[in-house]
Amino acid sequence: MDTINVSFRINGEKATVDVKPYETLLETVRERLSLTGAKEACGLGACGACTVLLNGIPVRSCLILTAEAEGADIVTIEGMKQNGKLHPLQESFMKNGAVQCGFCTSGMILTAKAFLDRNKKPTRKDIVKAISSNVCRCTGYRKIVDAVEEAAQNMQS
Ligand code: FES
Ligand code: FES
Repeated sequence: MDTINVSFRINGEKATVDVKPYETLLETVRERLSLTGAKEACGLGACGACTVLLNGIPVRSCLILTAEAEGADIVTIEGMKQNGKLHPLQESFMKNGAVQCGFCTSGMILTAKAFLDRNKKPTRKDIVKAISSNVCRCTGYRKIVDAVEEAAQNMQS
């Protein structure tokens, strides 16, 4: 089958890939670009483990075709570091014990980043709601909410 040439920016770098029309963005980032932070769990759009930011919006990369990402600005967990330093969310997830198996973590952090970029002073209830579409089977969520809350405070100071 013919391939499609698709260009986008990913983690600040230009990328061009030749993909099959039905290749998902998750397959492209993991298998072609070796950015394996985005995970495949359900593969059906239900869990959020595959979340990446597409033009600043969290999307389920298992449901997006790479062809739809033409011209987009994509961020994966690998692009969260700034000037060699971890993002405050990454720091607070580690500090608060919000990572166990880690399968949900990149999706949680990217979802939280998009949320905190729009909402600088969230309440705890706002945070719970913001991450409610991402599934974690390990932590019980409390430590994840603690981590996002602490990162929000650190990002204000
Ligand atoms: S793997 Fe994409 S939503 Fe679950
Ligand atoms: S840390 Fe294991 S699924 Fe969230």
